[in-house]
Amino acid sequence: MWVVLSVCLVAVLLLKLALIVHDTVKIWRAVNKLPSPPGAHWLAGHTNQGPYDPGFQWLLDTVAAFPRAYTLWNGPVPMPTLVHPDTIKPLLTSPTGSVKSPLYLLFDDWIGKGLALSDGALWKRHRRLLTGSFHFDVLKTYVPVYNECVEVLLGKMVKLAAEGKPMQVEHELGQCTFDIILRTACSHHSNCQLKEPLKDGEMDLLSATNTMTRIVTSRMVGNPLYINPWMFRLFSPQYPAWERAVGYAHKVGDGLISKRKEELKKKMEDGDPLTSPRDFLDTLLLARDEDGVSLSEKEIADEVNTFLFGGHDTTSSTMTWVLYAMAKYPEHQTRVREEVDELLADRDSDWITSNDLSSLEYTSLVIKEVIRMYSPVMLPSRSLTAPYDVDGITLPVGTTVAINLYQLHHNPTVWGHDHMEFNPARFLPGNLAALDPFAYLPFSAGPRNCIGQQFAYNQVRFLTARILKRFRLSLAKGEPEPVPCLTIVVRPVQEILLNLEPRNL
Ligand code: HEM
Repeated sequence: MWVVLSVCLVAVLLLKLALIVHDTVKIWRAVNKLPSPPGAHWLAGHTNQGPYDPGFQWLLDTVAAFPRAYTLWNGPVPMPTLVHPDTIKPLLTSPTGSVKSPLYLLFDDWIGKGLALSDGALWKRHRRLLTGSFHFDVLKTYVPVYNECVEVLLGKMVKLAAEGKPMQVEHELGQCTFDIILRTACSHHSNCQLKEPLKDGEMDLLSATNTMTRIVTSRMVGNPLYINPWMFRLFSPQYPAWERAVGYAHKVGDGLISKRKEELKKKMEDGDPLTSPRDFLDTLLLARDEDGVSLSEKEIADEVNTFLFGGHDTTSSTMTWVLYAMAKYPEHQTRVREEVDELLADRDSDWITSNDLSSLEYTSLVIKEVIRMYSPVMLPSRSLTAPYDVDGITLPVGTTVAINLYQLHHNPTVWGHDHMEFNPARFLPGNLAALDPFAYLPFSAGPRNCIGQQFAYNQVRFLTARILKRFRLSLAKGEPEPVPCLTIVVRPVQEILLNLEPRNL
């Protein structure tokens, strides 16, 4: 009996192994037909060439040489990479472009099956239930929160200017955007912008989030063994810090949810019809599908963690590059300021309303160009669930395909040979009309595009306008040119320091 069972088990294992080898060979045969940068090592692939080294020179050279698609070897694992509207569009608009690649599992402990990671029916249901939270009318209600949060930032900037100190842009914007997402998503006043620096061993939600971001990044680009969750758990020296930070973030999230549940319960008992959710958390707790089923506790917690993460690092990185670009290109800074001055002329206060945002036309061009230049979210990837054709080569099911948005936005065949030049006029309607709609995809496209796109865009326009109304920005003397690097988002390797000159209003 045992002998028969053992033979069956071995046969099943061998069959599985044979299937894995068969699928791997099939994928390798297909990806080898795509062009690939020369010199890939048989084991290390292109990793020795530093494909994601700060400054992204390898990416710029590679897209110039392979402007449609190429195979990147991540160690021994191939990753066909799409960099042209023609090769990207069919993927993002087809059902096979909806399934995220295994790389996203690096976030699994942290955000579970939240919207960014889930697939299939679960993703569809959540996307439907959450879309309302980003409706124009809901976003409007967040503008007063932006005003309150930016007042804190401006106060800190006044103090820095008075002391003659430069602003640490990423640090300050990181705190401000975190304040905004906590208040808009959960109405939580964390006071994070004014907190004293943490002492050794202390943790708050922002520091926990930063720790998790740092560790995911180092797993992505560091020792490939740690991509495997078990290897990471058992052998990585970073695992204890990860476990602590995830535990802390989940505890805070769960606390916010249970407090709100109590508040809603009380409101219902008092006869409140709860027709207008106050924030994203209310929407999650009150969401019901057609048959009246609500989200489970775990689903709600995963979405809260997803939005706190997705809604913070992205806008913080974008704002960091926007303020840097304003300091680096004073002529554009002046034009943005003139636009804001004109908008706010004859007003007693420089608070900006939601109706004002659409008047900030030049500001919008500048922001679009900054987002093109730095592409804060750089590397979405998918796992093919159906064969996918790239320039006549069929990639089989199971292939991990990347879309490199930085390379798309610096593709000379799409944006011209002056793609490294900062030129907001690219986005003037007349010039835009000549471009493929899939040439500019900072928020991705198709069914899995960024649900927070308008929220982010409003916030960035708003913060830029309010900051430039009050201050002239210039590069701190002697500071090196910031070098972009890939963490989860694209950020400068070193903090950017800007001088602040208050305006006499
Ligand atoms: C400038 C800021 C932002 C940029 C450049 C950006 C970019 C992106 C991109 C490229 C994707 C697609 C990722 C993929 O396919 O893997 C995405 C998805 C997503 N983003 Fe954003 N994002 C930004 C801000 C935000 C904000 C503020 C929120 C939330 C408040 C947010 C929440 C999400 C979520 C939940 C998804 C997954 C959507 C889905 O799969 O259905 N993002 N974002």
